[in-house]
Amino acid sequence: MINRGLFITFEGVDGCGKTTQMDLLAKYLQTQGYEVVITREPGAKGLGEKIREILLHYDGEVSSKAESFLFLADRAQHIDKIVNPAIENGKIVLCDRHTDSTIAYQGYGRGVNIDKLRMLNNLATGDRKPDITFVFDIDIETSMSRVGQEKDRMESSGVEFFNNVRKGFLEIAKQEPERVKVISSDKSIDEIHREVLEYIQTKIK
Ligand code: TYD
Repeated sequence: MINRGLFITFEGVDGCGKTTQMDLLAKYLQTQGYEVVITREPGAKGLGEKIREILLHYDGEVSSKAESFLFLADRAQHIDKIVNPAIENGKIVLCDRHTDSTIAYQGYGRGVNIDKLRMLNNLATGDRKPDITFVFDIDIETSMSRVGQEKDRMESSGVEFFNNVRKGFLEIAKQEPERVKVISSDKSIDEIHREVLEYIQTKIK
């Protein structure tokens, strides 16, 4: 049993199944007696919800740089007001998307300079880094069919965009194998959950 805070992030393209896995892991950790906080980016609560509304539903033009700054503004607020206080209180924070989404979507997807995005991510998060990151990998055809017909602004970005985003997540995982664990999403929910648990157990013994 660990007795310090932990920060675990869940990443992958839209429709990869990460939210389901995050919820299952939360339930498991709670049954083990851990205090768990579930949160998300963009838009956990308060100011973040307003930013989320713009990011997903504003129907005018949004430049890629402006989009990046909106995700980053949400992140800065989220880290300061929700993530850090919870971790400092010894809780396990499970977060649906975080810094890697900005590198994958705005960097690899939209073509914003990746080194600059990394710098801005660091500015937004301070010293806080995820202890563990799961990337759920799925082919884009399957992910798009899961998203369905009703798409928000980000989901409407097209197949080529999402192929680049997927490549981005895999590249990040290659660069940081100590932090990032890739799990293939072409299995049943239970099988994927078992893989998540096996990995977590090696990390939080
Ligand atoms: P959301 O409905 O939360 O999608 P999901 O359930 O797939 O996580 O919408 C968040 C969208 O924002 C999603 O398309 C990914 C995108 N996003 C970025 O482009 N950059 C970011 O930094 C973050 C956090 C999310």
